[in-house]
Amino acid sequence: MSATTPARIPATLIAGDGIGPEIMEAVLAILDALGAPFDWEPAVAGLAGVKAAGDPLPNATLDSIRRTRLALKGPLETPVAGGYRSSNVRLREEFKLYANLRPARSLVPGGRYENIDLVLIRENNEGLYMGYEHFIPIDGDPHAVGMATGVNTRQGCRRILEYAFEYAIAHERKKVTVVHKANIMKALTGIFLETAREMHADRYAGRIAMEEIIVDACAMKLVMNPWQFDTLVTTNLFGDILSDEIAGLVGGLGMAPGGNIGEHAAIFEAVHGSAPDIAGRGIANPTALLLAAAMMLDHVNLPAMAALLRRAIDETLNLDRIRTGDLGGDADTKRYTAAIVSRIRNA
Ligand code: NAI
Repeated sequence: MSATTPARIPATLIAGDGIGPEIMEAVLAILDALGAPFDWEPAVAGLAGVKAAGDPLPNATLDSIRRTRLALKGPLETPVAGGYRSSNVRLREEFKLYANLRPARSLVPGGRYENIDLVLIRENNEGLYMGYEHFIPIDGDPHAVGMATGVNTRQGCRRILEYAFEYAIAHERKKVTVVHKANIMKALTGIFLETAREMHADRYAGRIAMEEIIVDACAMKLVMNPWQFDTLVTTNLFGDILSDEIAGLVGGLGMAPGGNIGEHAAIFEAVHGSAPDIAGRGIANPTALLLAAAMMLDHVNLPAMAALLRRAIDETLNLDRIRTGDLGGDADTKRYTAAIVSRIRNA
């Protein structure tokens, strides 16, 4: 850890629904032990937002993130009834969170694959997820034809590719693989590939290696030999699918963190949901949210603290062999948390 005391950093804290409050309590205790310099502004969203303010994304929560530009977020439930839009999608739009950063690293040995260390960077605002969709009714069938229009812009391609190249350089990654389907979707993903080639030739050749791959081949190669990849960057829909695929390589969504980075804010979260089946029982695994907190520490330029946190998680899981039930262990959330805190205190 650095010898100087880091400046205080205001950040919004959304505990979330279901197991959210339990795993957030664990994460806060561990960040406290680390001496992480966040000044938390608690805010609500999801079901808790509906209960408190009649909106899964209350204005007070948006205002807080506008102020802090930084948030740690537990899983949110979108109420099925009431016609609410997903709070996660609204946050992405509101704060132009254009880069979805999903690292996948083997933590517990003995899975199908060992030593995985991949990063997937997904464009989060454009492509086929813009919601430009409609049905065409024919002969009394209101849904005779379903249509969707995807939109990728030069500007959108540039900013996600720039993010990916800069991330790879800053984190000393080996190469960036540009994943596309430009052979079929010549405009929609052709613009992405074309922009990648231009930007790499102009600004990044010699600084970071770039390769290209078609998305279907990429999906297969990730299963056959994931070690050939390092950092992948792709458009929205492909990124959604491939990010879950790489989470599967390291044991599923339960250990996967995610960062949503944008022009106006950065929001870090666990990839899993609110796990209503185990909520309130004190047995949830806080690792994914903890790894999200480590990404947040990296984001605010506290990499030594992030590294210490990751090492404490590794040691607790693999040297102390203290694990929660979802990983085959018998520790509850509190015991697992205490073990990580003690690793940090003794580091
Ligand atoms: P889920 O991820 O909540 O649960 C799937 C399974 O994994 C369950 O058996 C659960 O007990 C287990 N699990 C998940 N996280 C765990 C943890 N940290 N420790 C131990 N076990 C864990 O997915 P599900 O059931 O499909 O969704 C539940 C709710 O969460 C839904 O309302 C959904 O909309 C919401 N959701 C929210 C997300 C977010 O805010 N980022 C992401 C995914 C789902």
